[in-house]
Amino acid sequence: MKKSELINKYLKDIPKLDMSLLPTQVHRLNNLSAKYEIDLYCKRDDLTAFAFGGNKVRKLDYLIMDALATGYDSLITFGAVQSNWCRMTSAAGKVNGLDVFLVLSGGKPEKDTANLLLDKLAGADIEFIDSLERDDIIREVDRKIMELKDAGRKPYYMPVGGSVARGSLGYILAMAEILEYSENNEVVFRDIIVASGSAGTQAGLVAGQVIGGWQGRITGMAVSRNSDEQEQNVFDITKDTLDLVGYDYNEDLVRSLVKVDDNYLGEGYRMITAKCSQAIEDFVQYEGIFLDEVYTGKAAAGLTDYAERKKFSDEGSVLFIHTGGNVQLFE
Ligand SMILES: Cc1ncc(COP(=O)(O)O)c(C=O)c1O
Repeated sequence: MKKSELINKYLKDIPKLDMSLLPTQVHRLNNLSAKYEIDLYCKRDDLTAFAFGGNKVRKLDYLIMDALATGYDSLITFGAVQSNWCRMTSAAGKVNGLDVFLVLSGGKPEKDTANLLLDKLAGADIEFIDSLERDDIIREVDRKIMELKDAGRKPYYMPVGGSVARGSLGYILAMAEILEYSENNEVVFRDIIVASGSAGTQAGLVAGQVIGGWQGRITGMAVSRNSDEQEQNVFDITKDTLDLVGYDYNEDLVRSLVKVDDNYLGEGYRMITAKCSQAIEDFVQYEGIFLDEVYTGKAAAGLTDYAERKKFSDEGSVLFIHTGGNVQLFE
C-alpha cells in the first residue's frame, strides 16, 4: 500500500468540514533553488483559501465539525490581538451558524487593522485583556465560559491555535498530500521546514510521518519558545493525535522524530530578526510569494540559513510549508 493511502486509511472515518481547498498546491521554487543551490519546493497552505487562508483552516475543518456534531451553539478561543487563528475562527464559526467569542491579549489597540479588522468584519464578539500572561488569559476565558453558560449558551472551547489532537488531524492529512505528491511526481523529499508555534501543525505532520513511515526529517522552526519546551509540546500533541486515530506507536520513535530549532527565534515571539527580513525579501523578490514577520518569515530564515550552511541532505528535495499569515504585513 502507498504511504499516502496508509495515512488516509486512519482518517477516512473521522468527519470533517470542507472549508479548506485541498489538496493545496506543491510547486518548485526555481529561482530560490538556483540562488540557494538546493532543490526547493513549497506547499501552499497560504492558499487554503478560506478567510484569507493559512494552516488553521485545516484544523477548523475537524474542530468545528466536532462542535456541530456534539451540539454546541458557539465557539470560544483566545490569541494575540493579531492572531491568524482568531481571524479564521471568526469566519469559520459564523458561516457554520456558531457565534464566536474571542479573548484577545496584549491590550486594545487604537486602530483596528489586519487580523483584528477581519475578526470584526466576520462578526466576532471580542474582549481585550492587557496581560500577555497565560494564567491571566485562561482565567478570563474561564470567566467568559461561565458567563455564557449562565446565559444558557453552550460554548465549544478551543485552545490557542487549535493545537489539540483533533485540530492536528488536519496536518496528518497534509502529510498524506505531501506523500501523494511525491508518489505522483517522482520527487523525493528528504527535509520539511515549517514554523512551529502552538505546536499542532508540526505534531500533525509528525503523526503522519509515523503512520506513513516517511524516511525524512521535519524541522519545526520555533517562533515563540525554546527548543526543549517546544519539542515537549509537539511530542505531547503528536501522541494525543496518534491516540485519537487509534495508531499504536513506539514513544521512542516518536520522540526521535520531533525536531525543533530555536536559532531563528531572535528575542522572542513577534520580534523581527535581520535574517527573517532578508528571507521575506528573498521570497517576494525571487518568487513573488509574501511571507509574514511572525511565523513564515522566521521559518524561511531557518530554511535559507540551512541552505547556506549545507545542512540539507543532498539525496533529496526540500519542502517549505507556507502556513499563511501574511495579513500580518498590514497591521
Ligand atoms: C501563519 C502561521 N504559521 C504557522 C503557525 C504555527 O502553527 P502552530 O501554531 O500549529 O504551531 C501559525 C500559528 O499561529 C500561524 O498563524
